[in-house]
Amino acid sequence: MNTQEVMQAESQYILQTYGRAPVVFTQGKGLKLVDAEGNEYLDFTSGIAVTALGHSDEEWATAVATQAHQLTHISNLYHSEPQVRLAQKLAENSFADKVYFCNSGAEANEAAIKFARKFSLTQRDDQRSGGGAEKSNGHPTKIVAFSGGFHGRTVGALSVTYKEQYRAPFAPLMPDVVFATFNDLESARAVIGEQTCAVIVEPVQGEGGVNPATPDFLKGLRQLCDQVGALLIFDEVQCGLGRTGKLWAYQNYSVKPDIMTLAKPLAGGLPMGATLMTQQVADALKPGDHGSTFAAGPLVCAAANVVFDRVNQPAFLEKVRFHGSYLQHRLQMVESDKVTAVRGLGLLVGVELTVPAAPIIAAARERGLILIGAGENVLRFAPALVVDKVEIDTAVDILAQCLE
Ligand SMILES: Cc1ncc(COP(=O)(O)O)c(C=O)c1O
Repeated sequence: MNTQEVMQAESQYILQTYGRAPVVFTQGKGLKLVDAEGNEYLDFTSGIAVTALGHSDEEWATAVATQAHQLTHISNLYHSEPQVRLAQKLAENSFADKVYFCNSGAEANEAAIKFARKFSLTQRDDQRSGGGAEKSNGHPTKIVAFSGGFHGRTVGALSVTYKEQYRAPFAPLMPDVVFATFNDLESARAVIGEQTCAVIVEPVQGEGGVNPATPDFLKGLRQLCDQVGALLIFDEVQCGLGRTGKLWAYQNYSVKPDIMTLAKPLAGGLPMGATLMTQQVADALKPGDHGSTFAAGPLVCAAANVVFDRVNQPAFLEKVRFHGSYLQHRLQMVESDKVTAVRGLGLLVGVELTVPAAPIIAAARERGLILIGAGENVLRFAPALVVDKVEIDTAVDILAQCLE
């Protein structure tokens, strides 16, 4: 099928929930993508911060093919070694004691919300009543989220997502959600109280415009949660697993969450999510409370073990920090009155414009550079973590031409 044929069939048979670019990619290697017409592109999106090792990494592809020949799926009714090995690595290299696996970022946040509610129902009543006394009916259920936050499209995750345009058509959403202003501790203080069950925040907002939290904000949220006994949930679906140059984004801030959600890069391009938690949270959950048919099957875990082992190398993370700084530096040197700010952490970088991002993204694509937006007027750079200097130079040069 050529590009036109694919686009025509897409509009006929696929529900129109995406505004897709008029291109059909057929192959990828590293940061290179090739389309159905044979044109080559430099991919600075990595499939929205997913293909951390680049497209078709040799070791990753071999692990997936080998596992596919051995065993792909068994369901979570049985034990599985690749799953256990991955969980052990995630727990031993983070704040967490226990891991729950799922298939996407939205699902990881759904799980986080359920776990926080269950924790509130059990642990906090126990603490308040000294463990033995009769439980109160009114356990805290309020969830505090933030302006600009994006946590997914399922009903629970959507309820803590800020953008009205995503929420309004599907009202009523989950009740008991309150929004405060991102990076404004006083606005958070005004809504976090005794009835707060959890606070959910992205340490670096992705979709909301590539906004890193300030250290004081995250430290202040930790204190506020501790004061009222609420759980702090970090959504690291986009900014976790090496993206910021540390294994976890929270390590840039020296603030630990009680729950952390992961997804996008976890299996390097196969669907996988995870909700990590402390033992205290885990103690509130029991068999039957949550589950998933597909989650963390042997195939996806074989892929994720390769990604984790590669990203969790000091030299690998050092390179992410180096290339992230270099990318920000090169972007700051672009002379254009259309650029108002360059910001980000590691290899998640936003360029704020005075003009809409969409036409610049289209112009870049025509010149062979694939970018995405983050909101109306922010360009988002989220290349594979294996990007090199030459690729950064090429990308920034193309962008500069598009902003002339
Ligand atoms: C921070 C964050 N949380 C959650 C999600 C939802 O992830 P998914 O699309 O895998 O459901 C996203 C997706 O962009 C995200 O950026």
